[in-house]
Amino acid sequence: MRKAALVTGGAVRIGKEISLNLARKGYDIALHYNSSEKEALATRQLILEGGVNCELFRCDLSSAEDAKELVPEVMKSFEGLCVLVNNASIFENVGFRDVTPEFLETDMAVNFKAPFFLSQSFSAETGEGLIVNFLDTRVKKIPVEHFCYNLSKKSLYHLTKMLARELAPDFRVNAICPGAILAPPGQGEDYLRKMARGAPMKRAGSIEDIINAFNYLLENDYVTGECLFVDGGKSLTY
Ligand SMILES: NC(=O)c1ccc[n+]([C@@H]2O[C@H](COP(=O)([O-])OP(=O)(O)OC[C@H]3O[C@@H](n4cnc5c(N)ncnc54)[C@H](OP(=O)(O)O)[C@@H]3O)[C@@H](O)[C@H]2O)c1
Repeated sequence: MRKAALVTGGAVRIGKEISLNLARKGYDIALHYNSSEKEALATRQLILEGGVNCELFRCDLSSAEDAKELVPEVMKSFEGLCVLVNNASIFENVGFRDVTPEFLETDMAVNFKAPFFLSQSFSAETGEGLIVNFLDTRVKKIPVEHFCYNLSKKSLYHLTKMLARELAPDFRVNAICPGAILAPPGQGEDYLRKMARGAPMKRAGSIEDIINAFNYLLENDYVTGECLFVDGGKSLTY
């Protein structure tokens, strides 16, 4: 059976590079996207040119019901599914006082509930494998900016550790906590420089740094419950 990986938010940015990296390692790719259809098609083409299979799966992960259906849907095409990458995320800067019930619901749904239920169905439907969650260096901080985003990533940090225990020995569950890697869409180098300010390494990181961390988690069968900070040491300063 051919090995396969499901990457959420795999059409663009970090998710795209993780998908291409897994494809280079011989994994067939179940590439999830929500709104980036054109980019998903382009990424699929690049993956196919590398000689592995790739199918696109559109799903709005703000619906827990839809999120629960995603893995069974993927398994119809990719029986050898053995890697789940929870990369998709909403990153909006809303302060505590302005949070509405709808905003909290959507933020927690995409950033926390979806990884929760994807992990549940992934572990139920596949025999063994690896889950990698994308967190944020700020999980070590007590932040007040991006209130719901940070709350959701902190929840996912604890879920990573709890599932590493719950799902062992058949599954490994790890996470990557990026620092300043890619500026949000519409923001430039200044944003990254500001974000990297105060990091002991005194600079932003690159997608290559994320891929190296990811491959370490992919290839080390004895590592579980680990949250790798790829942040130039920023989390040491909180
Ligand atoms: N970039 C950084 O420097 C940095 C720093 C710290 C942490 N991180 C974390 O690393 C991961 C990747 O970062 P990134 O900057 O590449 O991510 P991103 O561009 O902010 O988001 C990744 C994808 O999430 C998907 N998404 C958003 N809302 C969705 C919804 N309702 N349903 C389904 N998918 C949805 C989007 O897919 P579509 O485009 O298809 O809609 C989007 O392309 C994220 O988890 C992020 O929190 C990144």
